[in-house]
Parts: sequence; structure tokens; C-alpha cells
Amino acid sequence: MRTRVREVPQETIPVELGERSYPIIIQRYLLRALGTELQRVGCSGKIGIVTDRNLAKHYLQLARRVLKAAGYHVIPIVLPPGERTKTLRTIATIMDVLVAEKFERASTLLALGGGVIGDITGFSAAIYQRGIPFVQVPTSLVAQVDSSVGGKTGVDHAKGKNLIGAFNQPRAVLIDPVTLETLPIREKIAGLAEVIKYGVIADEPFFRYLEHNMEAILALDEQAITRIVKRSCEIKAEVVAADEREADRRRILNFGHTIGHALEAIGGYRGLIHGEAVAIGMVCEADLARHLGYCSEEVVTRLQALVAKAGLPVQMPPMTFGALWTAMRQDKKVSSGTVYCVVPTQIGTVQVVPLEKQRVRAWFDGKRAPQRRKLANQLQGPGR
Ligand code: NAD
Ligand code: GLY
Repeated sequence: MRTRVREVPQETIPVELGERSYPIIIQRYLLRALGTELQRVGCSGKIGIVTDRNLAKHYLQLARRVLKAAGYHVIPIVLPPGERTKTLRTIATIMDVLVAEKFERASTLLALGGGVIGDITGFSAAIYQRGIPFVQVPTSLVAQVDSSVGGKTGVDHAKGKNLIGAFNQPRAVLIDPVTLETLPIREKIAGLAEVIKYGVIADEPFFRYLEHNMEAILALDEQAITRIVKRSCEIKAEVVAADEREADRRRILNFGHTIGHALEAIGGYRGLIHGEAVAIGMVCEADLARHLGYCSEEVVTRLQALVAKAGLPVQMPPMTFGALWTAMRQDKKVSSGTVYCVVPTQIGTVQVVPLEKQRVRAWFDGKRAPQRRKLANQLQGPGR
């Protein structure tokens, strides 16, 4: 039986940013109602659907059909999937299409995809004719719980991730959790790292919910998925409303990312995917916090157990302290040469602290020592 979208419960979370405020709407099968939703937020004229080939295969036909039915003139822009598309060259290609298709200030871009598509589309919308409206329709878990909310948009530079961009808030974020059914399992699991992050930084009961319901979440149980997407968006919306441009409070969203980004950079963005690196980063940063006296062993144990339960990695790959520290110093979060890190004090509360190289080295050496002992024992073998 076909589900009628009107009968499906809809959740709305406001992102309160004065005249740049917008709703996050979460509803199963929302894709089928895209036309009505765009009308509701005042989009008119041409719609450029920016998407990638993976998404186009599953959802482009439906999106085109419902938007045309609502009276929109639709122009699809289909890009290759993956982080390698997040470049200024892609932005130039999109600009060429918008000029050729005579997009105007009142035309709209719609990002139908994961974080890569959302970041590219938002940045394109920020710069075409000095700014046109855009709408986020996130389809990956990372995008539904994190990247589509908050207005960070941009592309990568050969020298680093997200180095070029703009703050640009969307008109609306329209989330259809049913799209997660076609998301590859590795990407689903990676998205859970950001979900766990929200529990650590802001909400112990939510963390406890994740501890008790991980099986249902991994099985994409309807209620469990809607609950984790909703709570993640609520926390992100609250943090962004308090500090849109990351002067202070928004920095807590970077928990796990100081070491996580370093791991991604050391792997040349080819090994661990973002959520996997953040998962290891969270466990390491919590353990560093324990070493520095900010939190108890219990915080680390609970976090590590939940990360592992989600199927995410917890162990830092082999590397030298020099490589790790150099990569940590290259991150955007470094200010006046000081590396800052978000550390948990309990599950549900964090603080941002400066890191001293010698103290991080002492933690790193202590962490490696048991591993070196284990390796030496293995090499010695039994009876030798
Ligand atoms: P992604 O956009 O590359 O998507 C991952 C893969 O899943 C891609 O191959 C994509 O085609 C595929 N995919 C997405 N949705 C699908 C679906 N429903 N069905 C089938 N396939 C699907 O990566 P991501 O993990 O979504 O996002 C990572 C990007 O987001 C990075 O570039 C990161 O820098 C950015 N990001 C931005 C913010 C922000 O605040 N702007 C926050 C976090 C991450
Ligand atoms: N993903 C971190 C932020 O939006 O600030």
C-alpha cells in the first residue's frame, strides 16, 4: 500500500537566527512532498537540483516529478560522488550551468545528497549573483544529523579540507529518513559517530538511549532513526543559534575532530572516512582528557564501549607522535599557534582547553607502551 505523506507525522525544529531563521523538517517519505515544502518556504521559479550520480540513480526522477507537478522549472546538475568533487573546479562547472540556464536571484538551488553535495550547493548559492536561496535535502546520516544544519558551506583546497567557503544558511532543511535505506552500511555507521558526539557534548540521557538502543538504530528501526535524527538536529540547532560563526559555543561540535581531522590528513583522506576518524578521535580525546585530569576513567570506558557497539573503530592506527602533532597543528581549529581540543568532563558536558605538546606526548607514549609490550611478547613467543 502506498504511504500518503500527509498521514505521516512531521517533526519541525526551528533554527533561530533572526531573519536567517529556518525550519528543519523531518518526515518519512518527505521526498514525495518536496514541491509543497518548497512552496511553503517561499521558493519560486527555477530549481537547480544539485546531486551526485549515486543519488540520481535512486531519487532524481522522483524529485523532478514532484517539483514539476508543483509548477517548478527543474534543472538537474549531476556530479561525480565523493570528497574529490568538493573543489573550486566543480563550483566553476555549476556556475557555468547557472549562467547558461539563466538562473536569477529568485531561483533556488536544492542540495539532494550527502555532506559533499550540501557543502558544494550551499557555497554555490552563496556566490552566484552574490547569493541565491538554497534548500538542503540531506540523504546521508552525516548530512541529516550534522552538515545540512548550521550554514557551513565550502570546498576543499589541495592543502586542506574545507579551506574555502562561506557561512550561508539554507531556507529549509528537509529530511526524509527513508533515504537512509539506500545508504551503504559503512556510511550509515560512520554517521553514528556524530550522533554519539551529541550525547557526549550535551545530553547524557541521549547517550544512555544510544547505549540501550544501538541494535534498533543499526537495523534502521523507524522510531529509533527519527529519534536520533531529531535529537541530533535539536542539539545542533541550539548550538548554532547560540553561536552561528563559531566564536565560542559552536566549538563544542568539534569534539573528536582535533585528533579525527589529524587522522584523516595523515591517511591522505583515503583510508578512514570522516565518521570513522571522528570515532577514534572521540575515544582518544576522552582518554587524553582522563590523562590530563578532566574526566574519570568511566567516561572513557562508556564512550569506547558505545563507539565499538556502533561498529566504529576505536584504535588509533600506528603512527609517530611527531606525525600526529604536526597534523593536529595544521587544523583550522588552531588559534595563534595553540592547539585547542574539546574534552569531556562528564558524559553530557565538555570544555574547550588548550593542549601543551609535552603533556600530549606523555599521554601518547603512555598509550603506546602497553601496545609495544604486547607486540614484544608476541615476537618473543611462548617458551622463549
Ligand atoms: P558524501 O556526501 O560523500 O556521501 C557519502 C556517500 O554516500 C557518497 O558516495 C554518496 O553518493 C552516498 N550517498 C549519500 N546518501 C545516499 C543515499 N541515501 N543512498 C545511497 N547513497 C548515498 O559524504 P557525507 O558523509 O554525507 O558527508 C561528508 C562531507 O560533509 C565532508 O565533505 C565533510 O567535510 C562535510 N561536512 C560538512 C559539515 C558542515 O557543517 N557543513 C559537517 C560535517 C561534515
Ligand atoms: N560540523 C561542525 C559545525 O557545524 O560546526
